[in-house]
Amino acid sequence: MKGFSTNSLHNFKEERKNAPHVLPIYTTSSFTFETLEDSIEVFQRRTDGHVYSRYGNPTVQTTENQIAALETLITGLDAQCLMTSSGMSAIHVLISAICQKGDAVLSAKRLYGGTTELFEKVLKRQGIDFIYTDDFEADKLNDILRIHPHIKVLYLETPSNPTMHCIDLKRCAQWAKDHKVETIVDNTFCTPFIQKPLTLGIDHVIYSTTKYLNGHGSGIAGAIVSQHIQFMDENVRVQLKLSGGTCSPFEAWLVHTGLKTLELRMQRHSENAMALAEFLQSHPAVSQVFYPGLETHSTHDIASVQMDKYFGGMLSFDIKGGQKAVSQLVKSLKIATYAPTLGDVDTLIMHPATSSHQSISKEDQKLEGVTDGLLRVSVGIENREDIIADFEQALGQLS
Ligand SMILES: Cc1ncc(COP(=O)(O)O)c(C=O)c1O
Repeated sequence: MKGFSTNSLHNFKEERKNAPHVLPIYTTSSFTFETLEDSIEVFQRRTDGHVYSRYGNPTVQTTENQIAALETLITGLDAQCLMTSSGMSAIHVLISAICQKGDAVLSAKRLYGGTTELFEKVLKRQGIDFIYTDDFEADKLNDILRIHPHIKVLYLETPSNPTMHCIDLKRCAQWAKDHKVETIVDNTFCTPFIQKPLTLGIDHVIYSTTKYLNGHGSGIAGAIVSQHIQFMDENVRVQLKLSGGTCSPFEAWLVHTGLKTLELRMQRHSENAMALAEFLQSHPAVSQVFYPGLETHSTHDIASVQMDKYFGGMLSFDIKGGQKAVSQLVKSLKIATYAPTLGDVDTLIMHPATSSHQSISKEDQKLEGVTDGLLRVSVGIENREDIIADFEQALGQLS
């Protein structure tokens, strides 16, 4: 090889001698084969191997296995995880893999706003119907199914954004099984450390790993975890591969790193949230606090059964004085930052009425408990006294 460019392209060998301690990021679009026969073996899936990073990548698959293992830890269940380019992509890919034109999804009314928009603006155009309910009593679900016998999926989010309303997953899973309806739970707020929907009989779980699983607000990605391994391999993987919503190796690596501290973070998020919720509840400027760990929360009993020991880091509270008071509070808070996300290590606040729920009518906002004075808090892992002192000084300034 005499040419400069031939040498710059080929004259090197990988200097890896022993295994690195930390998972490498495999930033390669494709994988090589020594022979045509080797490639055929892998392409025809007779031998396990990597082909092209949209189909699978070592960093991504390692993280997928890590998530599946945490989701099924000590449960005796088996599950498969596939990572996606975002939480939205996870929902889109999974529903597209299950439903076809003419099928319907029965969904909880209280959902992340983007999910409702995905249902209404994208999936509806593919011929999938969406029916919403707030009532999960078997009689009510039976009535809905009688009117809409084409319901194929029950889609749930618990606790829901922003009033932390919880739905009894075990009961819903049982009803769905009895009626041959598949269940999907968005477990983003809880993570598998706090809530394991698969053990409660749910079929599929989705995550916006952008939130707690990454934990540091440094990337966007999602995950689908399912007990139905054959379905994941034959349907979801194909849907994902062909729609191109695959997770990038770097994004997966960020999640892999975040998972290492998930337990520590979720414990601290939850303990801090509980302490802040109790403080806010006793403050005269606050009219209501929504935290599933509080006995006063309307669905505390359900949360106590299905959330494991901790109640998570998300809460919201209503302040007297509406949007004007919220605006003043946002300006006065020094530690809590206004940002439209959640699950980061630092404390974040958001005003649902003018952000996540702004496209919803005032009437529906009211039904969901989204008032002008409602502020959502993603409680961080800072020193607990500092967080409380920050809210105390800011609430104290309200005129
Ligand atoms: C509960 C929940 N699910 C799904 C999503 C969508 O996730 P992503 O932004 O990663 O697409 C979000 C985003 O905020 C969310 O809060």
